[in-house]
Amino acid sequence: MTDEPVKEGHSRRAFLRGTAAAGAGMLAATAARAQTPDPLITEVQPWASEFGDAVDATPYGMPIEFENHVVRRNVEWLTESTASSINFTPIHALEGTITPQGCAFERHHSGAIELSKADYRLMINGLVDKPLVFTYEDLTRFPRHVTTAFCECAANGGMEWGGAQLEGCQFTQGMIHNMEYTGVMLRDLLAEAGVQPEGKWVYVEGADASSNGRSIPMEKALDDVMVAFYANGEALRKEHGYPVRLVVPGFEGNMWVKWVRRIGVYDQAVESREETSKYTDLMPDGRARKWTWVMDAKSVITSPSPQVPIHHGKGPLVITGLAWSGNGRITQVDVSLDGGRNWTPARISGDAKPKALTRFHLDIDWNGEEMYLQSRATDETGYVQPTKDALRAIRGNNNVYHNNGIQTWWVHADGEVENVEIA
Ligand code: MTE
Ligand code: CO
Repeated sequence: MTDEPVKEGHSRRAFLRGTAAAGAGMLAATAARAQTPDPLITEVQPWASEFGDAVDATPYGMPIEFENHVVRRNVEWLTESTASSINFTPIHALEGTITPQGCAFERHHSGAIELSKADYRLMINGLVDKPLVFTYEDLTRFPRHVTTAFCECAANGGMEWGGAQLEGCQFTQGMIHNMEYTGVMLRDLLAEAGVQPEGKWVYVEGADASSNGRSIPMEKALDDVMVAFYANGEALRKEHGYPVRLVVPGFEGNMWVKWVRRIGVYDQAVESREETSKYTDLMPDGRARKWTWVMDAKSVITSPSPQVPIHHGKGPLVITGLAWSGNGRITQVDVSLDGGRNWTPARISGDAKPKALTRFHLDIDWNGEEMYLQSRATDETGYVQPTKDALRAIRGNNNVYHNNGIQTWWVHADGEVENVEIA
């Protein structure tokens, strides 16, 4: 399998076209299968004739080989080097809401570093009564909290501002992951140090060469920011900031400082040591939107989608996708089969947690005709996900960051799916 999104989509589609069965209703198709002798039913298979692997064959298990296409991928032409780059979560191939760490997108400015718990230190200084240095063990003695949150790079969808470009939601919306974190609240560490009244901002730095220094307003720092050391029940993976990272629910990914080593308290925002204007959004008149940290409500249909064409023909079809909002809970997701003319509410499956990925499903009886699939998220503030044209009308065409516009998938009658934009 290639790393190149467009080629992969095409070869896979060609294969699926060849095997596509003429669609009958689900029950009819099942009944037809039951009449032809099926060796998988009538014959004893190898896996039933001998023992499988012993319990200690894999002390730490990996996904079974049949799932080895469910991996992070990068887009080669996007960045010069893979050390300072980004890859994409295979959201098209996942279900539910939790992203396994092993396939959660990575974004590093200077590579993923190896930092042991023994060598780990976190310093809090600046406008505090008592500057402090914590070891990893010190952190584990503060009260622990658990929270689930999505982390979305501000650049997610950035390549699509100018028009539909990449074949697959892994590439168009995959700079996102959603994990259950365990750690301590930043407010508890700050209280230990004693924030002085003039302390209005924290400046957070990582231990890697880029340091990824970011300023966060004190109000947010004292609210739900977590200093996390577990993700999805196990230690953070190296690439996600082992042993400790910042979790900043609802805010853009670049503020989620990995390998966090210093939190300075200041009376104003300290500009990042790298390009200061990097995470601003350019407006049509050349001015920039600044400090747009919160990720607005967004959604995408993950299946069917360009990497997941329909190969079972017409009849019952499960449409599924993800919705999220940095401003709170998702309250509704609507799905359109006709490019936004008519909308049907989808089912929200499982919990809709605030500032976390939310799964939706819509079960339809597909008539086998082409569709223009779209999903549209609404959050608890009443905000409704805009169309791409509505976004461009406000922010112009030369943008990169904060693209939360509605995605359109053109489903062809043969089940192939293409990334398009419709007027
Ligand atoms: N923290 C450090 N120390 N160095 C980095 O390069 N990248 C940031 C942020 N934190 C970065 C960092 C960016 S831009 C994003 S989108 C998120 O980490 C990505 O987190 P992930 O690699 O766990 O997906
Ligand atoms: Co980012």
